[in-house]
Amino acid sequence: ERGGYDHYMLKEINEQPEALERTINGRITDDGRVALADFPPGTFDEVSEVHFLSCGTSHHASMYAQQLLRDRGVPAYAFTAGEYATTPAPVSEDTLVIAVTQSGETADTLASLRSANERGARTLTVTNVVGSTAAREADEALFIRAGPEIGVAATKTFTSQVAALLLVVERLTVDITGTPSEDSEAVLTALRELPDAVDRLIGSSIASSLAPRYAGSEQHFFIGRGVAYPVACEGALKLKEISYEQAEGFSAGELKHGPLALVTPETPIVAVFTGKHDTKTLNNVEEVRSRGASVIGVAPESADHVAAAVDEFLPIPDTNPDVAGVLANVQLQLVSYHVANVLNRSIDKPRNLAKSVTVE
Ligand code: F6R
Repeated sequence: ERGGYDHYMLKEINEQPEALERTINGRITDDGRVALADFPPGTFDEVSEVHFLSCGTSHHASMYAQQLLRDRGVPAYAFTAGEYATTPAPVSEDTLVIAVTQSGETADTLASLRSANERGARTLTVTNVVGSTAAREADEALFIRAGPEIGVAATKTFTSQVAALLLVVERLTVDITGTPSEDSEAVLTALRELPDAVDRLIGSSIASSLAPRYAGSEQHFFIGRGVAYPVACEGALKLKEISYEQAEGFSAGELKHGPLALVTPETPIVAVFTGKHDTKTLNNVEEVRSRGASVIGVAPESADHVAAAVDEFLPIPDTNPDVAGVLANVQLQLVSYHVANVLNRSIDKPRNLAKSVTVE
């Protein structure tokens, strides 16, 4: 049933090319435009601001979309649903509230979605499960079509969420600002090529040989900026969740405002690069290397300037920077998986965690 893989997590990591194919199938035209059947051009003309509500890994997908929308001039805010349910941000009928939830059953997300509904916002859910509570209760739904995910740690649903959100981002940008984003065509082309790129990455990753050297370190920090920031947070969440290693994700700029005090030669730092904002993140890499820390750089394969500045280089296929974060995430999934495997953890069912969290 695990199709020859030792764990569902590894099976699901390997299923990502086909899952992504399904996510984008029929949703991008040949001439590089978004084609969402239920959301034709103009659907979001009246929207002035976007709120994302979600938890855990889904929150990181939402943060990814938030960064892209802000880049494109659209006001966007990603909230953790547990906080939004107690301290909701003000909304109006022009606020589009997007609940991002793989299961569609997460109690915190449903509570915050209900709060948005009651207060008159327009609501949309981006979910994997047709017929889920979120799909029934939101005004509209977009399905990510990742297929069932058994491993407690979300992998293919994260990449499919980001791919689906990229389509939503491009649709919102045209509707709200009146013009497609500057590199909309390049982004959508990169998205179409993403399944192949993920396939190549998985086939060539050296994460399994790296893992034994870093498993058992005192702690692990993950840093990035722009879309690489949520990818760093997701890398840390995945590692702590399945390996029980101490791991934290930070925006690269925040490091020097406190966490740097914890950096020692026993603190491997994973730095995520996409081809945007690399120079600034390289400065942060210098800051930690001068404290004796080893840096693992995850970056596009042609990024020689990154390869030259880090201790270990984990390349991803070259692509558009807005899409590169998805590939970096896959590389980090593999790192987490192999570290957890070296430590002989219960990868598919980590202690204390449930696949669907139905209490607030
Ligand atoms: C982490 C993980 C959780 C979920 C979170 C939200 O690997 O799976 O952090 O992402 O519990 O779940 P959904 O997306 O079902 O709302």
